[in-house]
Amino acid sequence: MGRAKITIVGAGNVGATTAHWCAAAELGDIVLLDIPQAGDMPKGKALDLMQSSPIMGFDANIIGTSDYADTAGSDVVVITAGIPRKPGMSRDDLLSTNAKIVGSVTEQVAAASPDCILIVVSNPLDAMVQRALQVSGFPSQRVVGQAGVLDTARYRTFLAMELGVSVEDISALLMGGHGDTMVPMPNCTSVGGIPVTRLLDRGRLDEIIDRARKGGGEIVGLLKTGSAYYAPAAATTQMVEAIVRDKKRLIPCAAYCDKEYGVGGYYVGVPVILGAAGVEKIIELDLDEQERADFDKSVAAVKELIEVMAGGRAEICHLMAKGDSSQMCNFVRRVRAASR
Ligand code: NAI
Ligand code: 2OP
Repeated sequence: MGRAKITIVGAGNVGATTAHWCAAAELGDIVLLDIPQAGDMPKGKALDLMQSSPIMGFDANIIGTSDYADTAGSDVVVITAGIPRKPGMSRDDLLSTNAKIVGSVTEQVAAASPDCILIVVSNPLDAMVQRALQVSGFPSQRVVGQAGVLDTARYRTFLAMELGVSVEDISALLMGGHGDTMVPMPNCTSVGGIPVTRLLDRGRLDEIIDRARKGGGEIVGLLKTGSAYYAPAAATTQMVEAIVRDKKRLIPCAAYCDKEYGVGGYYVGVPVILGAAGVEKIIELDLDEQERADFDKSVAAVKELIEVMAGGRAEICHLMAKGDSSQMCNFVRRVRAASR
């Protein structure tokens, strides 16, 4: 059997680091693609990474390009193209710029690799993965978003730090959108098999959950320019591995939920089984009252984003044509409120 072909669109921090870890884990041959304006940068990163292979001991062909023809026949395509968060900027502020970028990237990768599985990483995640679904026309099983593995990894890290135990002994789950409304699931968190609620009081646990929820913003604040990329790339690599090695990992991903959890046709973070066919199953848990309330709030925030993304451009054009500046101001205010 030949090697898997993995395309990573966006050769910036998350894309290049994902290439690094996918290559080191010998998950397949890699195509790193960026815009023509990036010049030879993707080629340079690909060649540099390739030259680490004799030292690190992995076999992978890695090329950089701006030509979608080079991505043809990919098994997995990871979309990290976009602009990252800057200090003070919410993920959702990125909505309109990244929607255009993700739309155009999806169109081109779907044409070149009609059978691939798409993993979307660009933010605001839940809206971008919905955009990729719409534009690709792929079945929803083959379009999935990365958020939950990262958010849960942050939560697991903070728990390990608090308890002074190995991160490997923390098993946990967070659900909902990739934003400030993500849903803590203390009942699905254990430490060496012991429910976390037997080791930590609820107040301290809530503080840790809150830090995980704001984990992306914490890194943005520290870096000053750009946003997190080591942990996001590691999370993405785990998803690529689940697919190319058909591992059937049970991990939280942004998956298209229709009847599931009564979501009604939106992407939201839920536990799934991820394997060679993509999202092979969405695991439906019986949520308790608090979890259900938190989940519904998170879904409502995702829906609002999607509505703004869908209606935004048409409505602005209509209001501009009418020259109705007060309505335009109201509209912009509404978009801003939805993006908070
Ligand atoms: P970056 O700025 O380092 O890299 C983005 C790259 O995308 C740049 O090289 C840029 O030239 C490229 N790009 C822009 N438009 C493109 C197009 N049309 N086609 C191909 N490439 C294009 O940003 P970084 O840090 O890598 O983040 C990338 C995205 O991932 C951002 O939207 C960020 O918010 C998101 N992100 C999402 C996470 C998640 O958990 N879902 C975690 C971390 C970042
Ligand atoms: C993060 O959570 C920016 O969404 C990105 O780090």
